[in-house]
Amino acid sequence: MNAATMPPIRTEVASAAEPLLDIRDLTRHYRVSRGWLQPAVDVVALGGVSFSLAAGEALAVVGESGCGKSTLARAVTLVEPPTSGTLRLAGTDVVGASAEQLRALRPQVQMVFQNPYASLNPRKRVAQMLDEPLLLNTTLTGAERRERVAAMLDQVGLRPEFAERYPHMFSGGQRQRIAIARAMMLGPRLLVADEPTSALDVSIQAQILNLFMALRERTGMAYLFISHNLGVVEHIADRVLVMYLGRVVEQAPKAQLFAAPTHPYTRALLAASPTLDARRAAAHVPILGEPPSPLNPPSGCAFHKRCPHAQDRCVQERPELRRIGTDAEAPADQCHLVACHLVEELGA
Ligand SMILES: Nc1ncnc2c1ncn2[C@@H]1O[C@H](COP(=O)(O)OP(=O)(O)OP(=O)(O)O)[C@@H](O)[C@H]1O
Ligand SMILES: [Mg+2]
Repeated sequence: MNAATMPPIRTEVASAAEPLLDIRDLTRHYRVSRGWLQPAVDVVALGGVSFSLAAGEALAVVGESGCGKSTLARAVTLVEPPTSGTLRLAGTDVVGASAEQLRALRPQVQMVFQNPYASLNPRKRVAQMLDEPLLLNTTLTGAERRERVAAMLDQVGLRPEFAERYPHMFSGGQRQRIAIARAMMLGPRLLVADEPTSALDVSIQAQILNLFMALRERTGMAYLFISHNLGVVEHIADRVLVMYLGRVVEQAPKAQLFAAPTHPYTRALLAASPTLDARRAAAHVPILGEPPSPLNPPSGCAFHKRCPHAQDRCVQERPELRRIGTDAEAPADQCHLVACHLVEELGA
């Protein structure tokens, strides 16, 4: 059977009501030492994040360095447990799950990393890397596994003879295709991609983004795509979640977010995004200064020190994430949510 006749791996939809991923008030603290005779302190990498992701949905998570994107990715891919909150994946409560349940869940959520130079074992041929997940998790015969490997190489746009080569023989873009192929071998229902294009040449980035979209189309998997650049996610996400210092500050279906960005931070990110429409970018004020340290988080709204609109209230009181617009009946994940005291003044 060649790649063209191989049936695509189609993921199951658990039930219309149950999201594939459901996260409530997720926190993650890290205990860090501050040096000699100083007491250790807790860094709050995630300060209470809630969202859900439907089967087959493409969700982008955007924010500057240190806002907690990779921490969120590690929790979702079951690499690191959260400190508190709930994380349900494919209907299973991950936090209270047994080792056996976690083993069953792991193949369903796979990760692609930023740096394809570091994420591939230099001593293994491509065929071996792609075969390993099948060998460990399935009862397929050698011939069946070889067929799956060949079909997957084809799906990610790599030639069959590449199977026998080592990672150093490939370009960055090709390596990222190999990493994506490896992540796809068990037909995951959710692919988490942590800045998967930011180590690649600009000319290659679009090809990899297209590959993500094509694979989703073919398999029905969902993906959670992490980036610090709003311009990158505009073409590939159904919904966008903007994070600042471990919290969600704005969340909306993509079209709404780009048509009516509301949080001053989102507006600043748009202004800073070089790949977006220049007129739209010019309409907003670029972001000033560095993100605050989670070792010493600001009071009130974490963005207040960099916000051109900040008022006393913003310094004192942390704004809750709340719905804006008129769609009061819409499910939470379909509406526009913003954590800012000044939504009305700023004109959503
Ligand atoms: N293992 C750890 N120990 C201590 N602090 C950590 C650890 N991992 C992350 N942090 C801290 O948690 C915060 C969030 O880190 P995280 O790596 O999730 O951010 P990020 O959004 O992925 O950033 P980047 O865009 O640079 O990848 C940072 O302040 C970071 O220093
Ligand atoms: Mg990161």
